[in-house]
Amino acid sequence: MDMQVSAGPKVVLEGASVAYGDLTVLKDVDLVLGDGEFLSIVGPSGCGKSTLLKLISGLEPPAAGRVFVDGAEIDRTPPHVGFMFQRDALLPWATAEENINVGLELGGYPQADRAKRCQELIDFLQLTGFGKHYPSMLSGGMRQRVSLGRLLAYEPELYLMDEPFGALDAQTKVMMGRELLRIWGRYRKSVIFVTHDIEEAVSLSSRVIVISGRPGRVKREVKVDIDYPRDLRAVRKTAVFHDLCSTIWDEIMGEKAVEQAADDPAEAPA
Ligand SMILES: Nc1ncnc2c1ncn2[C@@H]1O[C@H](COP(=O)(O)OP(=O)(O)OP(=O)(O)O)[C@@H](O)[C@H]1O
Ligand SMILES: [Mg+2]
Repeated sequence: MDMQVSAGPKVVLEGASVAYGDLTVLKDVDLVLGDGEFLSIVGPSGCGKSTLLKLISGLEPPAAGRVFVDGAEIDRTPPHVGFMFQRDALLPWATAEENINVGLELGGYPQADRAKRCQELIDFLQLTGFGKHYPSMLSGGMRQRVSLGRLLAYEPELYLMDEPFGALDAQTKVMMGRELLRIWGRYRKSVIFVTHDIEEAVSLSSRVIVISGRPGRVKREVKVDIDYPRDLRAVRKTAVFHDLCSTIWDEIMGEKAVEQAADDPAEAPA
C-alpha cells in the first residue's frame, strides 16, 4: 500500500485562466481540492469543464495564474494522475484483459503479479468471463467498466474523470457510480468528476462546483452534507438531496438563460 503522507491539498488553482486564441475559456479560477476529496464539476456545455481537467493534468498550460498538484507547480503531467474520458478510449485490437494490463504496466505494477491483479479487477467490475473479449464484443456499459478497470489498474492518486458515465443508460450509470464510490471509500484517493447530471454529482460527491458560462469561473460551491458510505437509493429519496439538486439546477438554468439571451435577444427572459 502507498504510505504517502500528504497533509496539504491535492490540487490548488490560483487565478487560473485558459484562452484559445481570442476565446477566453476559463477566467480567474480559484479551486482547492482536498486530499481524498470527491469533487464534482457541473456547468453548461462549453463552459470549460474538460479544459479545467486538462489544465490540472498538465495537458493545457494556464495563460495566467498557477496550478499546483501536491504542492508543486506543474509544468507537465504530474505523476499518478489518471484520466478517464467520456468516450471509452480502449484499444480496439486488445482484449479487456490486455486493456487493463496497459494500466498495470503504466502504473509499474510488478510483472509477476499482473495476471492475478487483472483477474481481481475483472471480477471486481463484474466482468468475469469477458476478459478475453475485444471491446467490439462488449456492451457500452461493459466497455466503460473496462475503462474504469484500466484506470484502477494504474492506481492513480488523483482521478480526473470527464463525464465517464455520460454515455450510459440511467440504470448502468447509477451502478457504475455505486462501484466508483465503493472503490473511493476503500482507497480515499482524490477525485474530480465532471458531469452533466446534477443528481449524479450530488449523490456521489462531497462538494459540487458550478462553473459559469464562458468564460468559465467558479460560480457557486455547494457542500453535500450527506455521510459516507452512502446508500444511493436511500440518498436519492431524501429532502436534503432534492434541495441540493434544485439549488444547483437553478444556478445552471440561470447560466443557460444568459447564454440564450446573448445568442438571441428575442428569447431573453422577461
Ligand atoms: N484545443 C482547443 N482549441 C480551441 N478551442 C478549444 C479547444 N478545446 C476546447 N476549446 C473551446 O473551449 C471551450 C470550452 O471547451 P470544453 O471542452 O472545456 O467545454 P466543456 O465545459 O467540457 O463542454 P461540454 O460540457 O460540452 O463537454 C469551447 O468553446 C471549445 O470550443
Ligand atoms: Mg467536456
